[in-house]
Amino acid sequence: MKLHHNPASPFVRMVRITAHELNLTDDIELIDTGVFLPIEVHGAVASDNPLGKIPTLMTDHGHALHDSRVICEYLVHHAGDKELLPDEPVNRFRILTVQSTALGIADAGVSLRYETALRPEDLRWPDWIERQTTRINSALDVLEAKSDDDLAQVDLGSICIAAVLGYLDFRWPDWGWREGRDKLTAFYDTFSQRPSMQATLPE
Ligand code: BEZ
Repeated sequence: MKLHHNPASPFVRMVRITAHELNLTDDIELIDTGVFLPIEVHGAVASDNPLGKIPTLMTDHGHALHDSRVICEYLVHHAGDKELLPDEPVNRFRILTVQSTALGIADAGVSLRYETALRPEDLRWPDWIERQTTRINSALDVLEAKSDDDLAQVDLGSICIAAVLGYLDFRWPDWGWREGRDKLTAFYDTFSQRPSMQATLPE
């Protein structure tokens, strides 16, 4: 398998942590996109994914898979794993919803990053920045309240939440997301020690 990736992307990190947890890293060749702007077309990525987005995984059967949600589920299937995303429906859809929360935080975070670091200053939209920030904080509050159920196990939900908390630390070390969120902080303190997290730290 080949993975178009950039270590800074929280979506890529979700996939890479999942691959580590499933002991699949030796089966995945990482193809680093290097730095490219979200308004640019990356030739190698675009030739495998018409959306030109990372992560994109090329399977050994020559199929291009995207996005991170699909790739994570594929890796679980490929490994024959029943822990990270169980078949039992109540748990399965709870985990997928936690994953969806993480993807929403990542969407908002990456939008915020583009708006504040890449968009020309005179075109920035303060209400947009405010909305993405509120969206992230609201989602973190719900995770704090539900962490006893939703973050108790290592599964696709908790993996993706850990990846996105790592992205907040990486891009906004002064955000202060830990304040008033002791359970989420404890979850992250423990989870971030896992070899899968240590091996995928953004630089
Ligand atoms: C970032 O540098 O924050 C970033 C890089 C790639 C995708 C998304 C975010």
